Amino acid sequence: MTEKQYGGATGRGTGEMSVKAKPISAENSLSLKKKAKEISKKKKSPDTDKEKIILAGEIASQVKVFAKTIIKPGVPLLEIAEKIESMIIELGGKPAFPINLSIDNIAAHYTPSHDDQTIAEGLLKVDFGVHIDGWAADNAFSIDLSNSEENKELIQATEEALENAIKMLKKNIMTSEIGGTIQKTIESYDVEPVMNLTGHSMDQYELHGGIAIPNIDDNRSIELGVGLYAIEPFATTGSGRVKDGKPSGIYELVDNKNIRSPIAREILEFIEDEYETLPFCSRWLIKKFGTKALFGLKQLEENGNINQFSQLVESKGSKVSQSEKTILIEENGNIIVTTL
Ligand code: CO
Repeated sequence: MTEKQYGGATGRGTGEMSVKAKPISAENSLSLKKKAKEISKKKKSPDTDKEKIILAGEIASQVKVFAKTIIKPGVPLLEIAEKIESMIIELGGKPAFPINLSIDNIAAHYTPSHDDQTIAEGLLKVDFGVHIDGWAADNAFSIDLSNSEENKELIQATEEALENAIKMLKKNIMTSEIGGTIQKTIESYDVEPVMNLTGHSMDQYELHGGIAIPNIDDNRSIELGVGLYAIEPFATTGSGRVKDGKPSGIYELVDNKNIRSPIAREILEFIEDEYETLPFCSRWLIKKFGTKALFGLKQLEENGNINQFSQLVESKGSKVSQSEKTILIEENGNIIVTTL
């Protein structure tokens, strides 16, 4: 997810991806699950945190391979969302936010509602995250489901921009330098970077750790330190800006102040336990509480307990592509957390 949004094995070094993850086999799935169980027993320490980040990345990489096998034109987005989120859990992780399945001019923040009828088509952005105890790996790719040259160009632009950005990533680099490289790469395809969507730093249970990584050279001097970062270039044939669209059904907790309504209170307690400060969606709560969850969510929103995100749409209605990976910057180099 981006700043405006709520924002395998590991490769080491600058942009080097040394080990390829295998497509999910039963054996592979079992070993990831076993690792997750073992890690959850360990005491909190910087080493354990790093293990959690790397495992979240391994799961996210495997899930991407899986996602590509089930996404086809005409498949309902609801089915795709449910299968991918179930696979995250199956492999021992939890979704770090509701999967975004955004088509064409919707840049981000479209997650299927519980009764969604939309089918996969056009230029589809698949943006999902995996977390282990709040440490997230954020991973996204775009797929052309309408055999369009324009879509393919847009996808290539963000893929190459992401690759170039990762190559230059290191401690002490300026965010504007990364943005400049992303911008130049995307512009070389004669399309525009989306300037008001950015990558972001991440902390435990915080998808947005406070540092934005722009997709243009914004002339700001912010230095990257050691830490966890998601880089996510967006490209468009439009104006290079997104604006708020319809309500997304994606929320985050902002205030746990008391609320009188029993159903709202019950939902609030569930949110605090289950998601803490990570985003969640109405679809998930309807599974737990039935459709009365919608009523409770409305009350929580009106009372200021939760904030609902808007869908983000390209301001001229033009198509948008996205690519994203998560990288851990360390003192002596980077670890690509989401190798695939
Ligand atoms: Co992100």
